[in-house]
Amino acid sequence: MSKLWGGRFAKNTDRLVEEFNSSISFDQRMYKEDIAGSIAHARMLAKCGIIAPEEADGIVAGLTGILADIEAGQFSFEVALEDIHMNIEKRLTERIGPVGGKLHTARSRNDQVALDTHLYLKKEIAVIGRLLCDLQQAILTAAQANGDVILPGYTHLQRAQPILFAHHLLAYFFMLARDFARLRGVWDRTDLMPLGAGALAGTTFPIDRHAVADELKFGAIYDNSIDAVSDRDYILEFLSFASILMVHLSRLSEEIILWSSSEFAFIQLDDAHCTGSSIMPQKKNPDVAELVRGKTGRVIGHLMALLTVLKGLPLAYNKDMQEDKEGLFDTLDTVKVSLAVYAAMLAGMKVNGARMRQAAGQDFTNATDMADYLVKKGLPFRQAHEAVGKSVRYAIEQGKELQELSLEELKQYSPLVEADILDAIRVERCVAARDSYGGTAPDQVRAALGRSQAVLAAQRSWLDTSVQKGI
Ligand code: ARG
Repeated sequence: MSKLWGGRFAKNTDRLVEEFNSSISFDQRMYKEDIAGSIAHARMLAKCGIIAPEEADGIVAGLTGILADIEAGQFSFEVALEDIHMNIEKRLTERIGPVGGKLHTARSRNDQVALDTHLYLKKEIAVIGRLLCDLQQAILTAAQANGDVILPGYTHLQRAQPILFAHHLLAYFFMLARDFARLRGVWDRTDLMPLGAGALAGTTFPIDRHAVADELKFGAIYDNSIDAVSDRDYILEFLSFASILMVHLSRLSEEIILWSSSEFAFIQLDDAHCTGSSIMPQKKNPDVAELVRGKTGRVIGHLMALLTVLKGLPLAYNKDMQEDKEGLFDTLDTVKVSLAVYAAMLAGMKVNGARMRQAAGQDFTNATDMADYLVKKGLPFRQAHEAVGKSVRYAIEQGKELQELSLEELKQYSPLVEADILDAIRVERCVAARDSYGGTAPDQVRAALGRSQAVLAAQRSWLDTSVQKGI
């Protein structure tokens, strides 16, 4: 098949090189963006008097026909035509004749591919933003439904202090809210229009880059033509956002896997979100959480891969940069499915509040409260720590919890202990007492739930306004 760039070449491309060089197998998913970009470019060329209005009309009609063919599954993508850009351009000329060859005036594939990827990512940010909000809503719903459930909080995976389950869930809500804020940053750096950079230096034609930006709903344009075709930082930023988000989901997955084990028995996942074993008839495995945890690896891998691709590249475009797309597309697919499956899994999760409460009352999770009790009676915290440490050691020897010791026993390491100690170290009291801003006391958690709803509403309104305007 004759190449669009064939003039300078005396020989055909080696078959293996042709395949190696081609990106059509994966960049064909940007066909809509490629066509939208070309239509905007053709209209701008006519508006600026670079091509005739009838020529632009013919090009636009041809491109619209190609779009319909692709959507009807009647377009065959050719490896020999390398990528989505040349597949479409070649077909355009076949359809409308040599005037199709005017489309590439004042344009290069270097700014064209950058444009397509920006357009594609902008649309995907809108989708991912909504999925992220839905997952945050699922977390809020679970927190609200289990408002007064108490479980042990952990450090080093050792029981530490009792907390509200809702408080624990809200920790993830706020992590995801920061992920959302990062996504907004990615949007700002993706909402930049690169077309008009040409191969790297700009163009000799009197183009209007702002007109293209307006037609394609970009908020701003790249200031520097070399930068516009050379950088992929917006993709790196998206991959960073995705990696951090997946790390958050991976940590939640780890907890869900632990909590659903018999050892914890804190939660039960719905049958619809688990799978069985081909040999052990009794098994019910938390595959969704495990897979999300596992897929975190490939997302981080894509970030590392692109950082490594870019780190030694001289300006401007280098073919190495074709390697940006597969990792980006795989990350988009992975993040979208992970968010969707996760929201559904959380919605189906059953919480065993009694079992959580029981665990919260074991292993001296109230020891800090006993120390705080002594401090409030005037003892310096270090001495209180020592006295309670000794009480804990004594209780362990007796095979009891602190709250199971008699008042006499509790008094033996500090004369400041009085009858009100028993109330002070009740698990519910320990939770209610942590009433500092952002703490686990029910009042604080209620207030945090209110703040979360406001955060979520603000996120959604940003999607409905700024993002909706830009896609
Ligand atoms: N398929 C190429 C890519 O994905 C498009 C840009 C090619 N530009 C070039 N001068 N070879 O990066």
